[in-house]
Amino acid sequence: MNQFDTYSNYYDNLYQDKDYHGETKFILNAIRKFSRHSGKDILSFGCGTGTYEILLNKKGYTIVGVDLSAKMLEIARDKANQIKAKIDFRQGDVRKFKINKKFDNVLALFNIVGYQNTNNDLENFIKTAGRHLKSGGLFMFDCWYQPAVLKNRPENRQRIIKLSNGHLVKRTTTQILDIEKSLLHITFRLREFNSLKKTPEVKENHPMRFFTLNEIDYFLKKNNFNLRRVCRFKHLNKPISENNWDMFIIAEKL
Ligand SMILES: C[S@@+](CC[C@H](N)C(=O)[O-])C[C@H]1O[C@@H](n2cnc3c(N)ncnc32)[C@H](O)[C@@H]1O
Repeated sequence: MNQFDTYSNYYDNLYQDKDYHGETKFILNAIRKFSRHSGKDILSFGCGTGTYEILLNKKGYTIVGVDLSAKMLEIARDKANQIKAKIDFRQGDVRKFKINKKFDNVLALFNIVGYQNTNNDLENFIKTAGRHLKSGGLFMFDCWYQPAVLKNRPENRQRIIKLSNGHLVKRTTTQILDIEKSLLHITFRLREFNSLKKTPEVKENHPMRFFTLNEIDYFLKKNNFNLRRVCRFKHLNKPISENNWDMFIIAEKL
């Protein structure tokens, strides 16, 4: 069972406030500005429940979405079917995924690179992108920037979310830093309840890596990518800084 399988039932409710529309606009703008191709196809790593992919498909893009979690993909396929969107969602591991096609763009959105905990994982993730991009194609992803994570340490949190069935879910997030390995160990505990009953607690561990720009650049160059832009996520013209965790990378396949 994949770590996201249990979480998947709550995923879209938990991220109902995430600005998928604004972020999709930003991605489209980045493609327009940096792409050397006019082609409109995208391979999307860690597509999850398919929200970005559906929005990009509405804008005329042909999408193949890959994810490890069968449950997340089931939700993605249901959502796409409901609006008759034709999106090719496939189960696979982005560290070794293969499809006999080259794309104009590869995306990995919402910190998919953070799940690549070791240098080996990171390199295989980049190699998969490289195998599937045309020369001049773009690889774009967001991640956490190490100097900012170390300066602005994470805090434990608690949130109550209302589900579409009227029930409530309490999510408790605890976070432990492993500085040596550049990992943040996030534990989510979820409990659904209403006035009559509580369901058993669901617990998930997500070890998420944060990065220096140097290490990302090193593995990109080593695998025939050229860094075209490093900026804040959603802000092509704002530089990364130790005050903001997010870092957005635009790399081009040589
Ligand atoms: C935070 S969710 C993001 C989902 C989606 N991109 C979004 O923004 O809503 C992370 C997703 O990455 C997937 N994932 C993590 N590691 C993966 C890997 N090695 N290969 C494929 N999918 C992976 C998980 O299964 C999960 O669905």
